[in-house]
Amino acid sequence: MGFPQTRMRRLRRSPVLRDMLAETSLSAKDFVAPLFVREGIGAPNPIASLPGAFQHTVGSLVEEARRLCNLGVPAIILFGVPATKDATGSQAWAAEGVAQVALRALRDELGDDMVLMADLCLDEYTDHGHCGVVRPDGSVDNDSTLELYGRVALAQAEAGAHVVAPSGMMDGQVAAIRSALDGAGHAEVAVLAYAAKFASALYGPFRDAVDVTIAGGGDRRAYQQDPRNKREALREVALDVAEGADMVMVKPAVTYLDILAAVRQAVDLPLAAYHVSGEYAMIKAAAANGWLDGTAVALEQLVALKRAGADLVLTYFAGEVAELLGA
Ligand code: PBG
Repeated sequence: MGFPQTRMRRLRRSPVLRDMLAETSLSAKDFVAPLFVREGIGAPNPIASLPGAFQHTVGSLVEEARRLCNLGVPAIILFGVPATKDATGSQAWAAEGVAQVALRALRDELGDDMVLMADLCLDEYTDHGHCGVVRPDGSVDNDSTLELYGRVALAQAEAGAHVVAPSGMMDGQVAAIRSALDGAGHAEVAVLAYAAKFASALYGPFRDAVDVTIAGGGDRRAYQQDPRNKREALREVALDVAEGADMVMVKPAVTYLDILAAVRQAVDLPLAAYHVSGEYAMIKAAAANGWLDGTAVALEQLVALKRAGADLVLTYFAGEVAELLGA
C-alpha cells in the first residue's frame, strides 16, 4: 500500500503507557456516598437488597462517614428513615427528626472535613410513600408540596447540611427552596438539583432501604420523567439552572448515559450522576452468583459515567471502590 500500517496497539503495550494516556480518571474524590439513618434502632440494620449497605444508628452513621472521609471520599448524601410516618411527612422538617439529629451529629464530628448533603424529599416520611402532599383523588399537589420542601430545606440547613438535594421532581422546587434558604439567612447552603430524574424500576432496593411502599401499588410517573424522553430532560435541567441550582444531577446513571452526555454539552454547572440502588444490586447479585467480576464491572460503569461527563458520582460502591483505588 505504501503507507505505514496504523498501529493503535503501540500505545497499549504496558500499564504505565495506558495509565499515562488515559483520557478519564476515577478516584475517591469523585464519589458521594449515599447513607441511611434510621430512628429507633439499637444497632445497624443490613439492607438485604443492598448488600454492604445499612440502615445506620446515628452513632454508626458518624463512624461510617468518618471512615469514608479517611478513604478520601469528600461527601455523603443522607437519607432519613423515621420511626413514624404521617400524611404530610412532618418528620422531614421536625427539628428532632432523624435526619436533623444525624446532620447535627455529623457536623459536630466532621465540621467541614466532609461535604454533608441531605436528600430533600418527603417519600421516606409520608405514610402513603409519595414525594408530596396527596389530594383526595390520589394525585400529588405540586404547590402545597413546595411549601413543605421549603420547611425541610430550612430544617436541614439549620442542622448543618452544606448542600440540600431536592429529589421530588415537583415543578418549581429549586426556586422555592432557594428562596426559603435565602429568606432565612442560609444563602451559603447550595442546591444539588435532581434535575433529570426518571421514573425508573431501578429504585427498588432503595425503597427497601427507606421502608417505602407507594400506596395502592401506585408509581411516580405523574412527577418523575418518562424514560422515553431526552429533550424533556434538557428542559428540566434548564429550568433547574434558571431557578438557581448550583449543581445538577442525572438519575439513574448507566441506562441514561445519553442524557448525561447531552446535559454535559448543555450546562457548565457541576454535573452529578446517581448510580442507583438497582444498578448496584444487579452487579452485587451477579457477582454473588459468580457470574461477573463485580469489582471490575463496578469500575467499568463508574468510569463510564466520568467519560460521559459526570463530575461527581453518587454510588453505593463509594467506600469499596475508594479502598481499592487507594490501595
Ligand atoms: C426519593 C429518592 C429515591 C431515590 C433517591 N431519592 C426514590 C424514588 O424516587 O422513588 C432512589 C435512589 C436509589 O435507588 O438508589 N426520595
